[in-house]
Amino acid sequence: MERTFLMIKPDGVQRNLIGNIISRFEQKGYKLVGMKLMHISRALAEKHYAEHVGKSFFEGTVSYITSSPVVAMVWAGNNVVAGARDMLGATNPNNATPGSIRGTYGLDISRNVIHGSDSTTSAEREISLYFTPEELVDYSKNVDAWLVE
Ligand code: PPS
Repeated sequence: MERTFLMIKPDGVQRNLIGNIISRFEQKGYKLVGMKLMHISRALAEKHYAEHVGKSFFEGTVSYITSSPVVAMVWAGNNVVAGARDMLGATNPNNATPGSIRGTYGLDISRNVIHGSDSTTSAEREISLYFTPEELVDYSKNVDAWLVE
């Protein structure tokens, strides 16, 4: 089953949005297969955002993501990479659809509440940065048959 990496950023944690955000993905029908509250090191942040080295926002992004704990998660489900990105909304909350997570809770591209992988390739790379295979739980739920034919 397809998997994606989602991370509630420091502002989401500080603003008490963890439960609300997790609830949205649960209610959609995606399955939580890994989760940890963690304080990201600078080294990990630099690996995560490696493709943005040299861009004007790189230093600010690394400093923000390492400023306070995050909730790193792996979610599984049918088309979860694209589906979760739609639920996040546009990177800049000012362009995010009302009702999306960033459209509901965000005001600033530098404080956009949540990260989500942008492709299945990025998802696998990001999952392996944050989780070992043993930390991901493979399980079935009785509701599975009611979610996908
Ligand atoms: S881009 O524009 O294609 O380089 O950006 P993108 O791949 O969408 O993601 C960039 C990540 O950096 C965060 N960030 C910013 N991006 C663009 N402009 C500014 N000013 C900026 N500030 C921070 C942005 O939230 C993306 O982080 P993630 O964690 O992927 O959401």
